[in-house]
Amino acid sequence: MKTRIAVLVSGGGTNLQALIDAENAGKIPHGEIALVISNNPNAYALERARQAGIPAAVISRKECGGDQQKFEQWIQMTLERDGIDLIILAGFMCILTEKFTSKWPNRILNIHPSLIPSFCGSGFYGLHVHEAALERGVKVTGATVHFVNEIPDGGPILLQKAVAVEQGDTPETLQRRVMEQAEWILLPQAAEMVSEMIENQRKDS
Ligand code: GRF
Repeated sequence: MKTRIAVLVSGGGTNLQALIDAENAGKIPHGEIALVISNNPNAYALERARQAGIPAAVISRKECGGDQQKFEQWIQMTLERDGIDLIILAGFMCILTEKFTSKWPNRILNIHPSLIPSFCGSGFYGLHVHEAALERGVKVTGATVHFVNEIPDGGPILLQKAVAVEQGDTPETLQRRVMEQAEWILLPQAAEMVSEMIENQRKDS
């Protein structure tokens, strides 16, 4: 049985698209994207899921009255209902507390648009990461896929890829290059690696 993957999103969903394209190209033979969860009802990622025929759910903190515990319980229930084995955070803009992450040891992946431990942790999300990299004047940045634990961007690193910073880069041009040259390549690779690992563990048990 293939590893059932849930992808959690908040926005445009280009990383989700990279996963969908990789699965369709046969590059994730041990896994299948079985569910998309968005905390944002207007995320374009939901449209990508719809077009790919993947079931999607909207679970927003607002609808939980801003109650983090309720929000996480709702996510947990939905994941259990759909028999999910692996969670991939692909531009999911919500912090998950230890209460949630401890239920999924080595079962949550995140993609971060820098070479951790640079430009990561609280406050480093979206364009801010690339702004900080340009401000510091680094000549090389990149992306990191890591397991998620209770420390923001602090879990074990699985994959990293370096990307050159070019003269005249803006946060936007750098963000795009990091996505094209690193994120969209690494995330499907990581999805396959961990899907295979989970399948093997299932066989052994
Ligand atoms: C990506 O840069 C990802 O690394 C970060 O958020 C962005 C999401 O983009 N965590 P998208 O929604 O996948 O297009």
